[in-house]
Amino acid sequence: MSSFVDVPKIKMLDGREMPGIGLGTYLGFDKNGVVKSIDKQLRDVVLDAIDIGYRHFDTASIYDTEAEIGEAIRMKIDEGVVKREDVFITTKLWNTQHRREEVVTAMREVLNKTGLNYVDLFLIHWPIGLNADYSYSDVDYLETWRGMEDVQRLGLAKSIGVSNFNKEQLQRVINEGTVKPVALQIEVHPQIIQKDLISFARSQGLVVLGYSPFGSLVMRYGMRFPGPRMDDPALVSIAEKYGKTPAQVVLRWVVDRHVVPLPKTVNHKRLVENISIFDFKLTDEEIERINQFNSNTRYTMPSFWQTHQHYPFEKVAKPIPDPFRG
Ligand SMILES: NC(=O)c1ccc[n+]([C@@H]2O[C@H](COP(=O)([O-])OP(=O)(O)OC[C@H]3O[C@@H](n4cnc5c(N)ncnc54)[C@H](OP(=O)(O)O)[C@@H]3O)[C@@H](O)[C@H]2O)c1
Repeated sequence: MSSFVDVPKIKMLDGREMPGIGLGTYLGFDKNGVVKSIDKQLRDVVLDAIDIGYRHFDTASIYDTEAEIGEAIRMKIDEGVVKREDVFITTKLWNTQHRREEVVTAMREVLNKTGLNYVDLFLIHWPIGLNADYSYSDVDYLETWRGMEDVQRLGLAKSIGVSNFNKEQLQRVINEGTVKPVALQIEVHPQIIQKDLISFARSQGLVVLGYSPFGSLVMRYGMRFPGPRMDDPALVSIAEKYGKTPAQVVLRWVVDRHVVPLPKTVNHKRLVENISIFDFKLTDEEIERINQFNSNTRYTMPSFWQTHQHYPFEKVAKPIPDPFRG
């Protein structure tokens, strides 16, 4: 296939390997809640993505995309295009299943939905435990971590890690867990470069996965946010030098900072564009130029949970209403 891209892999602490870019599959949020895939749109995107060279898919129970990812992977295995071990699936435990015994149940639900025997990486989505009605639960994420260790021991997830944990929370899991997390998934883009957290996680041997890599380059929630755009002169000049697009430059900036980018797209042309970043490399000076956009701006900031005892981020004066509770 002419457009096929061979993606480099990164070794994790537990000896397993992760493909160095993953396809994001969160379709967003609107007034009706999480946007759902219609007419198997996402399944068809994953089928296309596998043909293009994507071998890593990022999902979560809350995205409601696990079933279609599983279906596409099973179809490609049946076609003989890939073997199960060629494909890497990351998924995440939702906040309402944080009690130790609920974690194995949640993982079994994922396997039922996907029709697969195991996932490659299972992450605690947030350090925040909630009850079924979304009121705060007092369950400690260390208890949740014991459940993640159970899942791994049972072979239901090959590797385990965390998402949206801050440095202190990650340190506590490292210190007090029996198994060390192998991965940390956090927001990483030119407006939030996460220097300290990335360097801490890497110093502990974790692989960092970066979500929302395009930051302000793209529309979010139907809006434009302050920060660089696709026509930013600094990004355009670097892109012209390498014959790439500003989107590719930003993804390469993520890779050159030793982070695995998780760009989301449902568009064939952009699937090819976003994975075609392994044939060039930025200079230290170019990385530093892009670092200069940093303003510590988060697009994923669930401030409606900020009074939770394990809320990981800085608090804001005016929290937004909780979309999960209507
Ligand atoms: N752990 C967490 O809490 C968490 C939070 C947020 C996200 N994530 C993960 O990270 C993934 C990516 O994050 P995200 O979806 O927030 O943001 P993103 O990947 O930075 O941006 C996605 C947007 O960019 C557009 N796009 C993609 N490639 C493009 C290109 N080359 N040129 C122009 N526009 C392009 C997409 O539209 P089209 O689809 O139309 O191309 C979409 O609107 C998610 O899907 C999810 O898997 C995890």
